[in-house]
Amino acid sequence: MSDRIASAKLRDKVMSAEEAAEFVEHGDKVGISGFTGAGYPKALPGAIAEKAKAAHDKGQDFKIDLFTGASTAPECDGVLAEAGALRYRMPYQSDPQMRNKINAGEMKFQDIHLSHSGMMVEQGFFGDINVAIIEAVRITEDGNIVPSSSVGNSVEFLNAAQKIIIEVNSWQSEDLEGMHDIWTVPPLPNRIPIPITKAGDRIGTTYIEIDPEKVVAVVETNDPDRNAPFKAPDEVSEQIAGNFLDFLEHEVQAGRLAYDGYVMQSGVGNVPNAVMAGLMESKFENIQAYTEVIQDGMVDLIDAGKMTVASATSFSLSPEYAEKMNNEAARYRESIILRPQSISNHPEVIRRTGLIATNGMIEADIYGNANSTHINGSRLMNALGGSGDFTRNAYISSFISPSEAKGGAISAIVPMVSHVDHTEHDAMVFITEYGVADLRGLAPRDRVAKMISIAHPTYRPLLEEYVELASKCKYQSTPHDLKHAFDFHNRIEETGTMQKKDAQ
Ligand code: COA
Repeated sequence: MSDRIASAKLRDKVMSAEEAAEFVEHGDKVGISGFTGAGYPKALPGAIAEKAKAAHDKGQDFKIDLFTGASTAPECDGVLAEAGALRYRMPYQSDPQMRNKINAGEMKFQDIHLSHSGMMVEQGFFGDINVAIIEAVRITEDGNIVPSSSVGNSVEFLNAAQKIIIEVNSWQSEDLEGMHDIWTVPPLPNRIPIPITKAGDRIGTTYIEIDPEKVVAVVETNDPDRNAPFKAPDEVSEQIAGNFLDFLEHEVQAGRLAYDGYVMQSGVGNVPNAVMAGLMESKFENIQAYTEVIQDGMVDLIDAGKMTVASATSFSLSPEYAEKMNNEAARYRESIILRPQSISNHPEVIRRTGLIATNGMIEADIYGNANSTHINGSRLMNALGGSGDFTRNAYISSFISPSEAKGGAISAIVPMVSHVDHTEHDAMVFITEYGVADLRGLAPRDRVAKMISIAHPTYRPLLEEYVELASKCKYQSTPHDLKHAFDFHNRIEETGTMQKKDAQ
């Protein structure tokens, strides 16, 4: 048995994943660790999926409600969705199997701001949490949990759960201990300001305190996190990244940003990684990240001495960088902090740090409303994640996206978004490979030309055509012609492209 289980009492609870899965019953609400492919339980999800399949084979119902920090991995979200073992899921997902089930109406999904999700567990909106399943690097002598490569909502799940199952994963480096900073917001009416004024402030413990009496099982694993490798940035990603870096320079010239101490939040993906590669060559120094996930590009910036600290709730690293983190966690824990997502994404701290938020999007409209989650109004892609937490509360909020998708069949700039995640009141700056639309200080009609200027040239005349129609409407505050506002979306449904066939 692993010497990572220091509590003698909890050593007695070690059992197989199949035995531990017996503590999970049909109808249970199950809160698990895990965030963007890091720190999710590796053994129990598969064992629960098998249990569900066996029940279904006998004609019995077996479905659970699953709560996490964010996305997990194919052997967690994927196997549970495939087994038909899920009734409800929150607050984020990005798994293809699960996406299909949700879009087919076979399971329910609630897209919740990540900073709200743990709070909603505490407030009891989901009823009792029956079981928490949490991955740990180590269990301390007192029976407390040292989390692994993410923290997510584990604190809230552990506090609320009736039963706790701990997976101790010896693949995760023991040197992660010391990287975490666990602090919880006191309940009302005893709230106090969160004592973080700088991204690098440590305010809590390096472990999660639990009630060891609630632990029903401890399962030993030795399995890697499943983070996806990134594609090398293509030409369009590099152009977008270049435009973003020009925008930062522009902010310095305007006196709103200094080369010293830029605080970043960044969504995940190829463009953010291209941005970080660009920052390596830039004049920016002492960069800090107050963000949700630590990405490859941040690790490079730390190694190059360009980034002093990165605070997040999870890693989202390529397999190569996850290996590196595992080998060198003792060094990286000097400059990396993993917090509960209720703190990494907390509006109060986001606003105080004065960060610049940068996230991807599906589409934005001519007035600056953005859709991050649904294709053509109804089809879920991933989910909102922390993009709302950061966009609403950032010093400057930006969205970066290619101007078109699916080989030009789809425009990222549309007359009216088919689903709203971020309103025109929150989103400030949009960037594509064609430039920057800075909407700050502009009334709705003054935003239109800026947004059209960053659309793909193919779509600019179609957008102008719509603006012409809208300009004939009776009311001209934020003019829309509702008969034509979704022409782009209707066209793609009917013809497979947002372009007009006769214009091609
Ligand atoms: N209609 C249909 N598909 C679209 C689309 C649109 N308007 N815009 C993008 N897509 C597709 C792309 O074609 C691509 O598909 P593929 O995987 O089959 O190639 C996919 O969506 C991803 O688009 P890409 O341009 O590569 O950007 P991305 O990887 O940055 O993803 C989001 C964009 C919006 C899906 C992604 O940023 C996201 O899920 N955001 C919400 C969560 C979030 O912001 N998290 C960060 C907070 S910390």
